[in-house]
Amino acid sequence: MCGIVGYAGSRQAAPVLLDGLEKLEYRGYDSAGVCVYNEAGLNMVKAKGRLSVLRDRLEGGTALPGNVGIGHTRWATHGAPSDVNSHPHMSWTGKIAVVHNGIIENEARLRAKMYRKGATFQSETDTEVVANMVGYYYEKFGDFVQAVRETVMRLEGSFALGIQCIDHPDTIIAVKKDSPLIFGFGEGEHFIASDVPAILKYTQTVAYLEDGDMAVFDANSVTFYDSTGEEVAKKRETITWEMSAAERGGYDHFMIKEIYEQPKALKDTISPRLRDGKIDLDGVELPADYLNGLRKIYLVACGSAYYVSVLAKYIIEKTCRIPTEAVMASEFRYSDPVVDERNLVIFVSQSGETADTLAALREAKRRGAQTLAIVNVVGSAIAKAADQVIYTWAGPEIAVATTKAFTTQLAVVYMLAMQMAKTLGTMSDEEYDALVKGLEQLPYDVESVLDQKHLERCQKLASRYHAHHDAFYIGRNIDSGICLEGSLKLKEIAYLHSEAYPAGELKHGPISLIEDGTLVVALATIQDLFDKTMANIKEVKARGADVLCVTLEALEENASAISDSTIAIPAIHPMLQPSLSIIPLQLFSYYVALYRGCDVDKPRNLAKSVTVE
Ligand code: F6R
Repeated sequence: MCGIVGYAGSRQAAPVLLDGLEKLEYRGYDSAGVCVYNEAGLNMVKAKGRLSVLRDRLEGGTALPGNVGIGHTRWATHGAPSDVNSHPHMSWTGKIAVVHNGIIENEARLRAKMYRKGATFQSETDTEVVANMVGYYYEKFGDFVQAVRETVMRLEGSFALGIQCIDHPDTIIAVKKDSPLIFGFGEGEHFIASDVPAILKYTQTVAYLEDGDMAVFDANSVTFYDSTGEEVAKKRETITWEMSAAERGGYDHFMIKEIYEQPKALKDTISPRLRDGKIDLDGVELPADYLNGLRKIYLVACGSAYYVSVLAKYIIEKTCRIPTEAVMASEFRYSDPVVDERNLVIFVSQSGETADTLAALREAKRRGAQTLAIVNVVGSAIAKAADQVIYTWAGPEIAVATTKAFTTQLAVVYMLAMQMAKTLGTMSDEEYDALVKGLEQLPYDVESVLDQKHLERCQKLASRYHAHHDAFYIGRNIDSGICLEGSLKLKEIAYLHSEAYPAGELKHGPISLIEDGTLVVALATIQDLFDKTMANIKEVKARGADVLCVTLEALEENASAISDSTIAIPAIHPMLQPSLSIIPLQLFSYYVALYRGCDVDKPRNLAKSVTVE
């Protein structure tokens, strides 16, 4: 949520900042701005709307000369998207410019205080409060670093800040707490950014700033301080991603590229954990006596990661026979959860920085639970805060709607469940071996559902259904978990009202909404429950629904006898089947969104990393 960049070097700063912001647009895209220092002082250019508006205003960057600057792409929290609310923000003293990712929780109190000190405000943002505070303390102490320190120690909430001062034209100060910030080392140039892709074009050598860290830098030097103000050395790390990982390649959208990257992402996530027919989850330790003493496992997450957690509940309970509950992080944190050292709490997050998930993790730790995180972004806050971590090796996910992170999270859940079941002795050797084989084969199975035949089928069905106003996704058991994710994909990128229900639940209320032509997407991939789901399809058909059924190839004939249309997928091990069922639903949503003319990669009102609660 919001992305920041900063540059000090010998290149023209504005084009570098625009490049970086383009790579960070997934974090927020309702407005953008830059500040570059030149002989005219600190020059800010800001624009409401997509980055392209700012780019045009800056003539690609050439309209704003200068070698040192900061930039920002915004997802509005305080104040509507507008030129004036866009970052950077200037102190009323005219000397300090600030970009900010995060949220200042005590901004009202600080704003009142700054008014009393004589400050004036142009915008409704919490960030302008920060700019004014640094401006105030700079006037008071005449020291840029001290002014930032005095400010930061008074801030509550989360922040990654990039700050310039008119009297120190070569310098940028960066500081962070609970929002991500990386530092990039180049030859005679330095960078800051909210995420690696923003600077990958220029350098692969980075350092991850910890909470409380401050970097004071210019083109040729950098000094890092920790939260106590002590000078510290930061470990330099080399990013091994290919540049292409953060590019669209030949694809029209990141989303379709990432859908097609799923076989590779699964291979990267599964293969290193399978050795000699056994699962080895990065040394994660969950010994038998610990597992036997557990009274309940919780999975805590938001959005699609929560839907992975819903699926995990079915999978872990079936394989390990330990009561398991999936809880939305925003609810968990304030629910006074019954959690102590007899609970394992698993957190699922692509970004590793979702504010509610991070807060829930801290709450679970505070209550004495052991915590385990399933995370995609290496070194992210959630990965660092958890007792143990298992990474999904999906690579950078840029499209706002998740696809490959979802399927790799699910793959980790399978492996975790199998490892725990093996330890507990609740899974037979034959079943374990069958699942290991199924996991090895899974990337290829997913690939087979991404063939031309399925693509065309999904495209055709999208052309048929895209003008519908409402959709209901129904399914039973793990199919109902996939319905939640399929339905979310449709509503978030195609803006088509959609709800998901366990199929047996529909007649307890929602069925009253079914009328002539209502789209019902029914998932029927579980052999044992097939007839039950068919009965539910008959119920909605009797009320006029137009039913699209996703089922197994072997069941397609029966399903098509009562459905209006079908998509058939191969049958694999039943526990792994959700990894295949979700693929046509991703493709279907993607094509529906295209037919409806939606901005697939940047759906309205959304942002990729939700760093505010
Ligand atoms: C939906 C989607 C979101 C995220 C949710 C959690 O397509 O991407 O629902 O799953 O915001 O984000 P992470 O996984 O980064 O914690």
